[in-house]
Amino acid sequence: MKLSKYYYLVLAGLLIISCKNNNENDLAISDDKTSSIDDKVATLLSKMTLEEKIGQMNQYNGFWDVTGPVPENGDQAKKYEHLRKGYVGSMLNVRGVKDVRAVQKIAVEETRLGIPLIIGFDVIHGYETLSPIPIAEAASWDLKAIKKSAEVAAKEASAAGINWTFAPMVDISRDARWGRVMEGAGEDTYLGSKIAVARVKGFQSDDLSTPFSIAACAKHFAAYGFAEAGRDYNTADVGTSTLYNVIFPPFKAAKDAGVRTFMNSFNELNGVPSTGDEYLQRDVLKGQWQFDGFVVSDWGSITEMIAHGHAENGKHAAELAVKAGSDMDMESYLYVEELAGLVNDGTVNIKDINDATSRILRVKFELGLFEDPYKYLDETREKEVIGSQEIHDAALDMAKKSIVLLKNENNILPLKKEGQKIALIGALASDKTSPLGSWRIAAKDSTAVSVLEGLNKYSGNTITYAKGADVSIGKTEFAFEVKINTSDKSDFNDAIKVAKKADVVVMVLGEHGFQSGEGRSRTDLGLPGVQQQLLEAVYKVNKNIVLVLNNGRPLTVTWADKNIPAIVEAWQLGTQSGNAIAQVLYGDYNPSGKLPMTFPRHVGQVPIYYNYKNTGRPTLPGEDIVFWSHYQDEKNTPLYAFGHGLSYTTFKYDNLKIENTFSENKTVTVSVDVTNTGELRGKEVVQLYIRDLFASITRPVKELKGFELVELDPNQTKTITLSLTQEELGFFNNQGLFIVEDGDFEVFVGGSSETVLTDKFKL
Ligand code: NOJ
Repeated sequence: MKLSKYYYLVLAGLLIISCKNNNENDLAISDDKTSSIDDKVATLLSKMTLEEKIGQMNQYNGFWDVTGPVPENGDQAKKYEHLRKGYVGSMLNVRGVKDVRAVQKIAVEETRLGIPLIIGFDVIHGYETLSPIPIAEAASWDLKAIKKSAEVAAKEASAAGINWTFAPMVDISRDARWGRVMEGAGEDTYLGSKIAVARVKGFQSDDLSTPFSIAACAKHFAAYGFAEAGRDYNTADVGTSTLYNVIFPPFKAAKDAGVRTFMNSFNELNGVPSTGDEYLQRDVLKGQWQFDGFVVSDWGSITEMIAHGHAENGKHAAELAVKAGSDMDMESYLYVEELAGLVNDGTVNIKDINDATSRILRVKFELGLFEDPYKYLDETREKEVIGSQEIHDAALDMAKKSIVLLKNENNILPLKKEGQKIALIGALASDKTSPLGSWRIAAKDSTAVSVLEGLNKYSGNTITYAKGADVSIGKTEFAFEVKINTSDKSDFNDAIKVAKKADVVVMVLGEHGFQSGEGRSRTDLGLPGVQQQLLEAVYKVNKNIVLVLNNGRPLTVTWADKNIPAIVEAWQLGTQSGNAIAQVLYGDYNPSGKLPMTFPRHVGQVPIYYNYKNTGRPTLPGEDIVFWSHYQDEKNTPLYAFGHGLSYTTFKYDNLKIENTFSENKTVTVSVDVTNTGELRGKEVVQLYIRDLFASITRPVKELKGFELVELDPNQTKTITLSLTQEELGFFNNQGLFIVEDGDFEVFVGGSSETVLTDKFKL
């Protein structure tokens, strides 16, 4: 390991005045190996002025071409001046070894104490080489693969100088209108918690101090995914039961997995903006859960408390946020401007400042930044790692695992590799940017493999391509947003012509990659623009259609489900998208993904989710009977259920057994035999759900409580055994206490939430 100059200086016990201007960092940074991190933090803290402490709590966005001229005025000049004074603890969106080195050098070599910066970036699904969007990865239900994907993302991002990602987003959401469902693990708390753990462990590894791992951030604490009407940043009003049983568990799981940071959220929750919510941050997170990392605000969320109507002005907002336990201010500039005054006039207790600063310093020590602030800054490694074959291979592997086969009538899929005339239709089929999805700041445009390229690569068929219609017709003023084509059908005829001559038509339709993500809520969940009309026009001339969906959220493809024989959910799969889709369409890879979020029939059903409550007036047969919980004009049931996903083979479930040893060893064991009854080797996600039939707080009609991914050869049978412990059988009451109640439980097992086998037991 490379030892920094500070290490030798401390070892020698020398008090050396730094050779750099006013730099006293050799005095401050105790990097002896014997003291604990807490001692090191305490020693350093004792040497810091109030302003330097507050500086650690200040995070700035990248502010100018750091290798270029220093700005002379405005905000940027101020940021630069603050950086030189040691009033900046972190920067985000500075990336690439050259630029990160430039800012780190100022922090380390020009400030009085030389405290290194922690460099944050949204590594949401990869850095420059992109893996599938997170909801797609969640569809794999493959925790090993998801962990590996985060690990690979950390490897590439850290080679670019990043040491902290603002991921994973662990917000549960039941509302497909919300654009950020693409960034999470879907609607289910149990699956979401397991995925949260996999992602945290992948990013951070077992040793945060290696230069290949980066600190993770569980966000957005809390209830951001419950924004009313799916409109981003909107108000959330949620009761205790939902908060504790649905929203909190993935955050708690991330904390237990060792996540080092949390981000609070833009929304208000029950009348208090999360950023200023003491209950959330101090009582629950840092109190009950004993989280000892730090909390960063979301971008400008401290200032936004004024617009929320919670803070009177900037000063008041800074006070509320720091008292509530928001440790770092992302881009509100309020801590750096207001906190010193608030401490000096006695409004804010210095203890809160010391606590926040210590938390931030702790994570910096854990990352090993004091030992070597330049450890992530190696140009050779940057060149070798970014875009390397290893990273592309991992992205392809994850992309294949993320694909969900929604429908496959008459075994139209897989396609034949030779002798089939294939018409490929849809602008998204040749698009090399859209598959990168949202959150792709470091990826270059047009770097994804398109479906057209993939299909040509993996077969000897002649593929005839016609766009049919544009999905996007250029960008809006904001670089990462597109305008949708809602009227131009002039290319329909070309598509109809090629479809007429084809044996099979593959249509790639859906959302552009920039139609989901932050700030991209939708009220219509259908195929955007003129694509539905294109689909119907092509269907008139050739019914042999394979519809490949590209999307960042569940879509209401109700007409397609009725009419189109095969539908493949291919999300936005990242850089290797076209290769993964081609391998699945040709049967080189047998799909095994399962939906992590319910697909509605109609947007009016939203929020729709599998683990709903029964109500006092549950399902009656027939939609025309008035007084029961239903719609007059649509079924209650989803188009595609949570957990649904087909394979090119089939599976049979039998022999469900329950062994109830709860009274002795607190475990109920459920086993089931799963047989591959088809002709191909394939993978199945065996899912276990329970229903607690009577409880002091009513329980959902079904709750996922276990799953296992199993791979089987044709005719092979495996017995899958899953355990239900207190953790799975209990729930939080309305005082936020975890309880397990005696009574009757139902158990359901199968390959989706529409399960096939059921039995009961008593606790
Ligand atoms: C705002 C988003 O809500 C958050 O998730 C993200 O990490 C920050 N911006 C920084 O880009």
